[in-house]
Amino acid sequence: MGIQRVGVLGCGLMGSGIAEVCAKAGIDTTVREVNAEFLEKGMGRLEKSLARAVEKGKLTAEDREAATGRLHGTISDEDLADCDLIIEAIVENVEEKCRTYAALDKIVKKEALFASNTSSLTITELAMSTGRTDRFLGLHFFNPVPVMKLVEVVRTLMSSDEAVAAAFDFVRAIGKEPVAARDNSGFIVNRLLVPYLLDAIRAFENGVGSVEDIDKSMQLGCAYPMGPFRLLDFVGLDTTYYIANIMFEEYRETRFAPPPLLKKMVMAGRFGRKSGRGFYEY
Ligand code: CAA
Ligand code: NAD
Repeated sequence: MGIQRVGVLGCGLMGSGIAEVCAKAGIDTTVREVNAEFLEKGMGRLEKSLARAVEKGKLTAEDREAATGRLHGTISDEDLADCDLIIEAIVENVEEKCRTYAALDKIVKKEALFASNTSSLTITELAMSTGRTDRFLGLHFFNPVPVMKLVEVVRTLMSSDEAVAAAFDFVRAIGKEPVAARDNSGFIVNRLLVPYLLDAIRAFENGVGSVEDIDKSMQLGCAYPMGPFRLLDFVGLDTTYYIANIMFEEYRETRFAPPPLLKKMVMAGRFGRKSGRGFYEY
């Protein structure tokens, strides 16, 4: 099951990174957005990232040209019909994801694999919106995708051995390191990371320290590359809020519950880096 053509749904923070690594690995890549404005914005982010890689000497100008030649943007599902693999990285909302998969299932060739980059939804629930449950998996990438090595490969009770093997091969072919994760909300990483990030907000709410001092403490005291508030702003407070709600709904454990401050910041449009303001200003 060789993967030569990939379709990426969503050209936000994650979709643009996933499309970039696929194109750099020699794969013909088509990214689909909801409208021309979002597509232009996402492709702009992707081009900036490729330009940065050239400036830093990580990519030659010729390789960037070649990668750009393999990248196509679209707002039409029909352009994904011939893909061997679809990787979905749209908003963390089960209805929106299921609606999107159900529509694509009718268009994309039957033998193609479908994968979701969801942070917190179960793959089983998403797979059930299609007629290809045996070829449906989780492929969970990490932000920033061009830098982070890990991809969690998530199989469900229905995934075939062939689909799982093809997913592992694909992850290695794009230069990432796969791990096998069970289809539990949050898989491996977010099951551990999300309570930590939410706890940092609760610590701040309880007056344990300032945003800056909590960040400095985790960076200088534990050598984390970013403190929790920088990381929350980086991931997106909107996305974190959706993830917390989904994980709390799934496990009914208070460690996954979204703190009131997170909810208020999202209501106020403070989504982090992507909106120019979160716990910090950008
Ligand atoms: N795209 C491409 N490359 C990037 C990048 C981006 N958005 N951001 C940084 N880089 C590259 C830089 O070019 C640089 O490369 P070189 O070392 O080769 O020059 C390298 O990463 C380091 O960058 P900087 O020197 O600019 O900054 P830094 O040392 O502070 O590193 C960072 C930035 C890599 C983001 C680092 O802070 C980090 O690892 N942070 C933690 C990220 C993390 O935890 N991610 C997981 C989030 S959770 C998730 O993804 C799951 C989920 O479902 C929510
Ligand atoms: P984002 O808000 O940056 O981007 C989402 C993009 O999807 C937007 O550009 C939006 O226009 C587009 N979109 C929405 N509905 C669409 C549809 N039906 N078809 C095509 N495009 C559509 O979000 P993000 O941070 O990239 O997150 C995307 C997914 O990846 C979510 O499931 C999230 O949980 C997951 N994820 C996020 C991170 C992170 O650190 N932000 C890390 C790993 C996984």
